[in-house]
Amino acid sequence: MNTLWCFLFLSIALVNGKSVFIIPPEYAGDILKATADCINSTGTGVGAIQKILSGTLENSEPFKKFLYCFSFKSGYIDSNGHFNLDKMTSLIGNHKDKAKYIDVINQCNKSKGGSTLDTVYEISLCFKENTPIYFSI
Ligand SMILES: *[C@@H]1O[C@H](CO)[C@@H](O)[C@H](O)[C@H]1NC(C)=O
Ligand SMILES: *[C@@H]1O[C@H](CO)[C@@H](O)[C@H](O)[C@H]1NC(C)=O
Repeated sequence: MNTLWCFLFLSIALVNGKSVFIIPPEYAGDILKATADCINSTGTGVGAIQKILSGTLENSEPFKKFLYCFSFKSGYIDSNGHFNLDKMTSLIGNHKDKAKYIDVINQCNKSKGGSTLDTVYEISLCFKENTPIYFSI
């Protein structure tokens, strides 16, 4: 388990060399727990979370399952695959780009796929393309 955590921390720190927002520790715990649970239950490797954080959203069934599992368990999307605005907003506190970030969430939340997994995938792609804030743990 310790090896897993260390690996996650080390690898997640390297995000495209872009300026990033470090997720506060009070939120990071739930995120790491959801990550570990979903790696187990979906059978994806630790690489899946690195892909999410580095913005590589793979169009594959196992990856989409992990994406849904992870974002639902950590509470950032609802069971239909749409954003939970309160949760997404509290994550960033009073970040200077908060207004733009909320606009992007509301805009991207309108995307809809043929299934819940596809919806999560679509809104994530949209979010990734448009967010003014990049995340790191
Ligand atoms: C994941 O599975 C491993 C092996 O089955 C187990 O030891 C570990 O506790 C599980 N982790 C979580 C977070 O469920
Ligand atoms: C996103 O859309 C869903 C379903 O249309 C809605 O229930 C939810 O409140 C919306 N969330 C945001 C953040 O706009």
